[in-house]
Amino acid sequence: MSGKVLVTGGAGFIGSHVCKRLAAAGVAPIAFDSLEKGHAGMVRWGPLVRGDIGDRSSLIKVITEYNIDAIVHLAGYIEVGRSMREPALFHDNNVARTAVLIETAESLGVENFVFSSTCAVFGTPVTARIGETHPFAPMSVYADTKLAVERLLAAPERRLKSVVLRYFNAAGADPDGEIGEMHDPETHLMPLAIDAALGFAPPLTIFGDDYPTPDGTCVRDYVHVEDLAEAHLRALAWLDGGGANAAFNLGSGTGHSVRELIDATSRVSGLPVPHSMGPRREGDPSSLVADPTLAAKILGWTPKHDLDAQLEHALRWRRSMPR
Ligand SMILES: NC(=O)c1ccc[n+]([C@@H]2O[C@H](COP(=O)([O-])OP(=O)(O)OC[C@H]3O[C@@H](n4cnc5c(N)ncnc54)[C@H](O)[C@@H]3O)[C@@H](O)[C@H]2O)c1
Repeated sequence: MSGKVLVTGGAGFIGSHVCKRLAAAGVAPIAFDSLEKGHAGMVRWGPLVRGDIGDRSSLIKVITEYNIDAIVHLAGYIEVGRSMREPALFHDNNVARTAVLIETAESLGVENFVFSSTCAVFGTPVTARIGETHPFAPMSVYADTKLAVERLLAAPERRLKSVVLRYFNAAGADPDGEIGEMHDPETHLMPLAIDAALGFAPPLTIFGDDYPTPDGTCVRDYVHVEDLAEAHLRALAWLDGGGANAAFNLGSGTGHSVRELIDATSRVSGLPVPHSMGPRREGDPSSLVADPTLAAKILGWTPKHDLDAQLEHALRWRRSMPR
């Protein structure tokens, strides 16, 4: 695969890793990011164009100037809690502005599109592992916005070909230590556990230990950000090779409880993780674990990094992170 790929959200956590992976494969990434949440310093493998995905004239300029062949669309707001407090803002940024991006790309003849969705579109699972045919039941405005974009992409009149990638819990950091997770506010468990161990953040709160799981705490499927980046490259190659529209659930297929994650953080860092027990948080399913069989079969994608590797890389990044 060659060509030029517009990576919206390219200055963010996952987008910056996607840019690095594309560049290593000889594909030129052009990061397009408002920098409202992203960081210019994370864009190191191609140009950064500052702009908003809802701004049609900026999109026309960047797509024509760089002769863009495909788009990887990661830009969006990501905090579930905030989406419940500010639903209109989330619908505007994640859905309405994405519609501008899709329609502009289509009008300029861009053919291929890869979209970052989430396992949250499935809501509370009805099977132990979640495959692509699992019913949709989003439980937050954030998840609603992701499903709305999946539906925009699946519209029958759509000329753009697309792959939807539904990530489970993105974690870890660049194994070379160049980039990593830098959300503000940080709401993800692994960086919060690491920050609690390093004394960079207050003790971790566990939200409930009375779930129907082996140790009572919620179980999640953690997938290394470098493995996710690889999946984007493979999704682009799939579309480039004439592959049809598809959606893939991207996780390791193995779940880890909050307690297991705390123990692993402690073991890998050599530090205790100060924590306390809190009540359940509304809307948290007890267990979310992917069935990644389809991505293995169609894209040849299997994650390489286990939980310990995710922790090692994230720890190294948090220790060196600009603060
Ligand atoms: N982190 C996860 O565990 C996870 C899980 C499932 C899905 N996702 C999805 O993956 C994508 C990337 O997540 P992330 O963790 O890298 O988030 P992030 O916040 O680090 O990156 C998102 C980037 O999008 C940019 N952005 C937001 N709105 C924009 C707009 N209107 N125009 C241009 N740029 C805009 C932000 O400045 C930021 O750099 C998101 O779409 C998110 O919903 C993430």
